[in-house]
Amino acid sequence: MPDDPIGAPAEDGAIEELLREERSFPPPESFRSQALVSDRHLYDEADQDWEGFWAAQAAQLEWMEPWKSVCEWELPFAKWFTGGKLNVSANCLDRQVAAGIGKRVAYYWEGEPGDRRTITYGELLEEVERFAGVLYSLGVRKGDRVAIYMPMIPELPVAMLACARIGAAHSVVFGGFSADALSGRINDAEAKVLVTADGGWRRGAVVPLKANVDLALDQTPSIQHTVVVQRVGEKANPGGGLVPMREGRDHWYHDLMSPSPARRGPEPMDSEDLLYLLYTSGTTAKPKGIMHTTGGYLTQVTYTHRYVFDLHPETDVYWCAADIGWVTGHSYIVYGPLANGATSVIYEGTPDYPDKDRWWEIVERYKVSILYAAPTAIRTFMKWGTSYPEGRDLSSLRLLGSVGEPINPEAWVWYWQVIGGGRCPVVDTWWQTETGGIMISPLPGVTTCKPGSATFPLPGMGAEVVDDQGKKVERGGGYLTLTRPWPGMLRGIYGDPERYRETYWSRFPGRYFAGDGAKVDEDGYLWLLGRIDDVMNVSGHRVSTTEVESALVDHPSVAEAAVVGMNDPLTGQAVIAFVTPKAGASRDSAHGEVLRQHVVEKIGPIARPKAIIFTDDLPKTRSGKIMRRLLRDVAEGRHLGDTTTLADPAVVEEIRERAMQSPAEE
Ligand code: WTA
Repeated sequence: MPDDPIGAPAEDGAIEELLREERSFPPPESFRSQALVSDRHLYDEADQDWEGFWAAQAAQLEWMEPWKSVCEWELPFAKWFTGGKLNVSANCLDRQVAAGIGKRVAYYWEGEPGDRRTITYGELLEEVERFAGVLYSLGVRKGDRVAIYMPMIPELPVAMLACARIGAAHSVVFGGFSADALSGRINDAEAKVLVTADGGWRRGAVVPLKANVDLALDQTPSIQHTVVVQRVGEKANPGGGLVPMREGRDHWYHDLMSPSPARRGPEPMDSEDLLYLLYTSGTTAKPKGIMHTTGGYLTQVTYTHRYVFDLHPETDVYWCAADIGWVTGHSYIVYGPLANGATSVIYEGTPDYPDKDRWWEIVERYKVSILYAAPTAIRTFMKWGTSYPEGRDLSSLRLLGSVGEPINPEAWVWYWQVIGGGRCPVVDTWWQTETGGIMISPLPGVTTCKPGSATFPLPGMGAEVVDDQGKKVERGGGYLTLTRPWPGMLRGIYGDPERYRETYWSRFPGRYFAGDGAKVDEDGYLWLLGRIDDVMNVSGHRVSTTEVESALVDHPSVAEAAVVGMNDPLTGQAVIAFVTPKAGASRDSAHGEVLRQHVVEKIGPIARPKAIIFTDDLPKTRSGKIMRRLLRDVAEGRHLGDTTTLADPAVVEEIRERAMQSPAEE
């Protein structure tokens, strides 16, 4: 297929014109007339009685016992809806069936090879009740941790909901992570059981999940059992036959599910009981186990999913094209949509398989009305040109969302125009694994958008940009902070309360520091500028510079490594590594490839450096700190600013020359 960069001259011109002339985009009238919220009263309610506002949102859920207080705030520790009891799976499933929507579709699932399943709320409830029975029979109890390492198949939300039903916390590890990354996360959480699959499909190839599990479990004393879904069958085992199963430890999912295991009802959980852990990259080499609890989290994801996506559950078909292995999938494929009784699409594969209009084929087939995607995907489609969506009927779409990284105005306008046909509001939603749910976003029906701006904090949320001293910036750039607690906020870092305080609450007294730079424009709109700490954002995935550095120095040939994120037109940022080899070690491109592969083995393909630049020395301050800013400038070929703080300014020149000799390899 020819690359057809947003190319038909007419289209190209149209978008440039929109960018130039229409600086702001009010919600289209056709949308406004049907919108859930069409005036500002939601903001007013939240402003006038903040606790009452959140109590009203929580009251949308079904509680087994009422809460006593809405929010107890002892900085930096919050408790929400204390004394209240509820069960998340009961809210997502039993409640819907009891309300008479058991026959409504919960998930249209489509596998990458083209296999399909339609699962109603009634069917999902039954599967979850039974799998909860299976987990229980394997010894899982309230308060335990269960690790989940799966492809995007229906058994993944089933496993999560079954944990929630018992009251065990799940820790989902993205299926693209390596065996090492998996064992590290299992050990940190001391998970008792692992739910996985023999493999998954990705661009026609098998992701060897069970083989990774076998490697990982050599180092995980806490795991007593694994449950393995047969997704791929014999193709998952290059050795022939099905994947090897270890006697006494490994069990097939389908064997345990038939004959029918005893079903388990929902365990009453305290509002502040742990719902899940999700590991995310921080500024150190060790990923952080972000803790989310029950009542507040479910309140926030349910509220935001309803209002940000203008959800009409009876008629909408909603598709969040993220992977459930990331927080976006937890909150906006599983918990928010199910708690709202929505009908969702789950798709296992990538947008370009078997060809480049797979997404639009899915939108057409299921008449998707709400699409939530990452800017990297949108930029990829832009690059492919308009010929792919053109052949497809996208008229069912009525709302578009963006998440995970800053969206550039060009991509925003393309999304609005080419995919949304100018009739769909585009909601650019800012949030983090730590925030649990969306914090900053337009309110569709109300907010006039500016392409590239996430606009304003949602009703109930407080966000401000501050300067170095922590003073509020009225206009201009600074650091993004959150000014008051919110129900879905992280409750801490698993096993490390000090790191929680230190990472998020110490930089600016009384404020949560998000790690992002942001600016406020003359109309008070917020513009996110990307991470200002040592976290990169590659295709909307968080990758820690230090984590990649420690993977590199783990290789016997590497003396020292420094990693930076370089701006990349497609993926937002790309990983660039500067490596000082040990004496005598090879520095040719074949060895560069060995090191890139080593990073894949230690972390996973998302962390693979786009380029490795060998250098004899790294630029350091006199106190020995590597100056990443300079390396970033070198990587991007920028003019170097002040180098006077460097211990040896000549180093930079040398690196610059080498960087020019070894162009980025893909
Ligand atoms: C970035 C993903 C700009 C940001 C839900 C944040 C964004 C990090 C946006 C969190 C957005 C997320 N505009 N940047 N709309 N949404 N980010 O934990 O840098 O995987 O700190 O959560 O993604 O990534 P995480």
